[in-house]
Amino acid sequence: MKMNTVTDLKKRAITDLRISLTDRCNFRCTYCMPKKVFNSSYKFLRPTDLLTFEEIHLIAKTLVKMGVKKIRLTGGEPLMRKNIGVLISMLKQLSCNDNSPVEVSLTTNGVILKEKVSDLLSVGLDRITVSLDSIDKAIFQQMSDTKHSPETVLDAIEEARRIGMEVKINTVVKKGVNDSQIIPIASYFKRLGITVRFIEFMDVGSVNSWQMSHVLPSKRIVSILDKEFGVNYCGRNSKNEVSEVWSYKDESSKFGTISSVTKPFCGNCTRLRISSEGMLHTCLFSTKGHDLKPFVKKSSELSGQGNLQTFLSQIWSLRNDQYSMNRLSGIEGSAINEKRIEMSYIGG
Ligand code: GTP
Ligand code: 5AD
Ligand code: SF4
Ligand code: SF4
Repeated sequence: MKMNTVTDLKKRAITDLRISLTDRCNFRCTYCMPKKVFNSSYKFLRPTDLLTFEEIHLIAKTLVKMGVKKIRLTGGEPLMRKNIGVLISMLKQLSCNDNSPVEVSLTTNGVILKEKVSDLLSVGLDRITVSLDSIDKAIFQQMSDTKHSPETVLDAIEEARRIGMEVKINTVVKKGVNDSQIIPIASYFKRLGITVRFIEFMDVGSVNSWQMSHVLPSKRIVSILDKEFGVNYCGRNSKNEVSEVWSYKDESSKFGTISSVTKPFCGNCTRLRISSEGMLHTCLFSTKGHDLKPFVKKSSELSGQGNLQTFLSQIWSLRNDQYSMNRLSGIEGSAINEKRIEMSYIGG
C-alpha cells in the first residue's frame, strides 16, 4: 500500500471523490427537490458560502495524494456554477499516485448543456452523465416539474456526441410514474450506442416521500428489457462500481442497473463526497458532515495541506457506513430515522 493511502473500518480505500458545486438546480424533480419544500422553506446556500475553486482544488489535490483516481462534479445542477471550465482545467492538472491523469466527469440534467459542452471538452472534461427520466414530454415535465422539454436534453446529448464527448444516461425509475419509459428510453439510446443506467428510486434525503411501493426493482427492469430485446448479464466493470452491466443480445450496446435498494453495494463503497460549502460526507445517507473549511480558508490557523490530510485520514479511517445494507437487513441505524442530507445538496 502507498504511504498516503488510508482504509476505513471495513477495509475500503478512497478512490472516488464527488464534489457538489451548488445546491441549486433549474429542475424540481419530485424525487429530489419537491417544490413544496424547495420553493418555500428550504434555505439555499449563499454564493459567499461556497468553496472557491482554489479551496476545492486544495481538497482534491490532497485526496488524489490519498488515492483518489476519479472526480465527479455534481450539484444540484453543476452547470449553474459560473466558470466551471476553470475548475475543470485546474483539476485535470492533477496526477494520480501511479502518474496517470485524474479522470474528471460531470453529472447534469442537460438543459443548459448544449451551449457549454464544447468548452467543457476543450478544458479536458473526460465524460458526462446526463440524468433523463423520460423522453415523453408530459412524463418528463411531470417528473422534473419544469416546463423544459426532453428535446432540449436530447439535442444537447446529440451535440455532445457530435463533438466526441463520452456520454452516459442515468434514468431514475419510479413505479407508476415513468416505468412506461423503460422501453422507449432503452430503444432510443440503444440505437445511438449510448449506455443507459436504470436507477432504483432511493430513500435519500428526508423530503421526497419515498415508499418501497414506488421502487421498481432492477430485476423487473431487466425482465422488461429481456422480453423486448433479449439481454445478457456482463457483471460490474470493476468491483467498486455502482452499476451492473448488461448487453443486448444483438450486441448493439449495453445498459446498466443500479440497485441500491434491492442489492446494495456498500461493501465496495470507495466514494467520498464534499458539499459545495465544504462539508465532507462519507455516505449519501449521512445525517451530519465534517467541516473542511477551517483547513482550506487562508485566514484560519488550521489552514494547510498537512492538517487537511491528517483530518481526512482520521475521518476516513473511522468510517463504518453501510446505510443501504442496513436498510435491506432491517437494521435500525441512526440515519434511518434522523433527518438526512438531501441529494441536491450533496450530489448523486
Ligand atoms: P461512473 O462510474 O464514474 O460513470 O459513475 P457512477 O457509476 O459512480 O455513477 P453516478 O455518479 O452516475 O451514479 C449513479 C447513481 O447511482 C447516482 O445518481 C445514485 O442514484 C447512485 N449512487 C451513486 N453512488 C452511490 C452510493 O455511494 N450509494 C448509493 N446508495 N447510491 C449511489
Ligand atoms: N433516487 C435515485 N437517484 C436519485 N437521484 C436524485 N435523487 C434520487 C433518488 N431519490 C439521481 C438523479 C441524478 C443524480 C444526480 O442523482 O437521477 O442522476
Ligand atoms: Fe436537479 Fe438532478 Fe435533483 Fe433533478 S435530480 S432536481 S436535475 S439535482
Ligand atoms: Fe456508500 Fe452509503 Fe451508498 Fe452504502 S449507502 S454505497 S455506504 S454511500
